[in-house]
Amino acid sequence: MSDTPPPAYAGPQRVFSGMQPTGGLHLGNYLGALTKFVRLQDHYKSIYCVVDLHAITADPDPRSLAANSREVAAAFFAAGVDPKKSIVFIQSAVRAHTELAWIFNCVARMGWLERMTQFKDKAGKHAERSSVGLFDYPVLQAADILAYKATHVPVGEDQKQHLELSRDIAQKFNNDFDAPGFFPLPEPLIQGPGARIMSLRDGAKKMSKSDPSDMSRINLTDDADTILAKFKKATTDPLPLPESVEGLEGRPEVANLVGIYAALSDMSQEAVLKAFGGKGFGVFKPALAELAAQRLAPIAAEQRRLMGDVPTLDAMLREGAEQANAIAEPVMEEVRRVVGFWR
Ligand code: TYM
Repeated sequence: MSDTPPPAYAGPQRVFSGMQPTGGLHLGNYLGALTKFVRLQDHYKSIYCVVDLHAITADPDPRSLAANSREVAAAFFAAGVDPKKSIVFIQSAVRAHTELAWIFNCVARMGWLERMTQFKDKAGKHAERSSVGLFDYPVLQAADILAYKATHVPVGEDQKQHLELSRDIAQKFNNDFDAPGFFPLPEPLIQGPGARIMSLRDGAKKMSKSDPSDMSRINLTDDADTILAKFKKATTDPLPLPESVEGLEGRPEVANLVGIYAALSDMSQEAVLKAFGGKGFGVFKPALAELAAQRLAPIAAEQRRLMGDVPTLDAMLREGAEQANAIAEPVMEEVRRVVGFWR
């Protein structure tokens, strides 16, 4: 046995990320992921995907699936993802995802998937009644990333465990098929103040589409009055805002609102507290609502405009799928050879 480590991946650096078309997007999706998509496209070849195959793992709805997929894609463009710089497409339009997911099913171990906390959260007490697809969800996610040999994956904090699994799958594939350095071990890009935006009603729960209360989240399509009403109703405490970041300790709901303000304004939490420390929520909440409304209104308007011209939007998405396929298909050709399939 030699001690030399296997050769590391030496291919080009690429960004890949995805979002589910299950209902509209919220401020957590925007600050945790979408703002990063926009920033990264100036530095990397970036590929952004609306993951409709993931969306059918629980409660599929054939009447709304395509429209929801268009809506998420429109939100990407409206928020500043530029089709001249980035590839934007719908997952089911590129066959490589499902094919590679099958191969990865034969690489990933049951025990790895059984440890996934998101499956446990989503399946609840009724794991045996969940779809096999829901259990397998993170394997498809690994296939999404690695079909493009993506090296960097911008996501919110909640995706950390899935990204670790993607790395494990890439590593085991490279080992099992005697192909050192074939797949990169993708790096999650999680850091930043928006990585974990919490529910407006409960500072211990993340902001989520699946929360039954719409008051718990700011949707990207909420108007200024709704945003103000939701922030005004947001859970806080009777004390004023602290003067320093240490003062946020033990006050998760307050820390969340300060974090949202910081992320939306590109200020540090310190700077936000310098401006608002000692002031009450009667001052802070309307200021936060105004900031959020200012930021989200043009995105919602552009998203509506794009949704009003479905043929143009679909043409953009078809073009994106072609570009995505042009990267993924040569990777799949190599994968088929490495696995040893008859060709
Ligand atoms: P999804 O659709 O649940 O969420 C999309 C993105 O938004 C982030 N996010 C948040 N960030 C901060 N605070 C929150 N409260 C919050 N809620 C959601 C998520 O971390 C994510 O980045 N499994 C993925 C979709 C996916 C994917 C992929 C991502 C499929 N294949 C390949 C990356 C690479 C998901 O459920 O995202």
